[in-house]
Amino acid sequence: MTGIVEPMRLRELTLRNRIWIAPMCQYSVDAYDGIPTDWHRVHYGALAAGGTGLLVVEATAVVPEGRITRQDTGLWNEAQVEAWRGIVAFAHAQGAAIGVQLNHAGAKASTFAGFGRDGDERGSVPVEQGGWQTVSASDAPVMGLAAPRPATTAELEAVAEAFVAAARRADDAGFDVVEVHAAHGYLLHQLLSPLSNRRDDRYGGDLAGRATLLLDIVRRIRAELPTVPIIVRLSATDWVEGGLTPDDAATVAGWAVEAGADAVDASSGGLVLADIPVGPGYQAHLAERITREGVVASAVGLIETAQQAEEVVQRGVDAVRIGRAALRDPSTPLRWARELGATVDWIPPQRLRAY
Ligand code: FNR
Repeated sequence: MTGIVEPMRLRELTLRNRIWIAPMCQYSVDAYDGIPTDWHRVHYGALAAGGTGLLVVEATAVVPEGRITRQDTGLWNEAQVEAWRGIVAFAHAQGAAIGVQLNHAGAKASTFAGFGRDGDERGSVPVEQGGWQTVSASDAPVMGLAAPRPATTAELEAVAEAFVAAARRADDAGFDVVEVHAAHGYLLHQLLSPLSNRRDDRYGGDLAGRATLLLDIVRRIRAELPTVPIIVRLSATDWVEGGLTPDDAATVAGWAVEAGADAVDASSGGLVLADIPVGPGYQAHLAERITREGVVASAVGLIETAQQAEEVVQRGVDAVRIGRAALRDPSTPLRWARELGATVDWIPPQRLRAY
């Protein structure tokens, strides 16, 4: 039976195990220039040394106006590529594969980070304080933030181009994997969900229409980067009546693979307030549903013990992703291997005496 400490392949890439680090925004770019900082170098360095098979770095904006906050990282210019290069090289030296999650925040852009240079403010940044008019699938505000303007068809075409250009830069920086963020209420999820997409152009309508931009992006990244594994992160349910359902997500996952994706991560929610049954492994069934389409899938969400992670993988899910557990202990993958009594060859030699 497959276990979490066993390797797996994504396209040409071998991952040393199935314990992946979920993308987590650090909101730590105080210069507002999208360039990762010492914080990112140390934070991602610790995670890479902690034994993970695949570290995917935080939601990284494809254009400045796609940032959730001004403290987000970016991949829209060469200075950012250069800074990511060092982080990637260190991860590789530790034997970890490393990917980047590409994002456009749409109606959830232009918010305060709540710390750092932004101070303790929250909510939308007013235009006079350096914020910007957000765009989305429609004019529906998301999560109580400032109302967006519906993006024109041409603007959405330009977003696809920006994702492709950022993917090219990610490849230049040495990232092994590109992840397309289509979850958590950001632009691609705003398009996918019937709750927020009221468009009558080619990016709206039925599920296939609403998935058009996501699938165009995947297809175009695949054409540009034939060997780079692509992961699509979906909110596999909106958790409300009339929203995206797990069956919709499984359908979109199948289409994403046809378009050139290699795996789908099943997260959920983030578009509208909902009563979410949060608890251990509460989203794992969504990944299981996707694997039934023959799609490689990872599960995420309160998977916090080695035993629990083993059970998820033994139910046929290809990998688990850990978020907050890895913030508490960046060496969680190594700790889990030890707790399972597994012999692994990914302990950093400097730390062998601890294991
Ligand atoms: C997140 N999450 C997240 N998700 C994502 O797709 N892109 C991101 O940049 C972020 N940023 C982020 C920051 C922080 C501090 C946290 C805690 C979470 C969600 C994350 O990837 C994961 O799905 C959830 O945290 C649930 O997994 P855990 O934490 O229960 O293992």
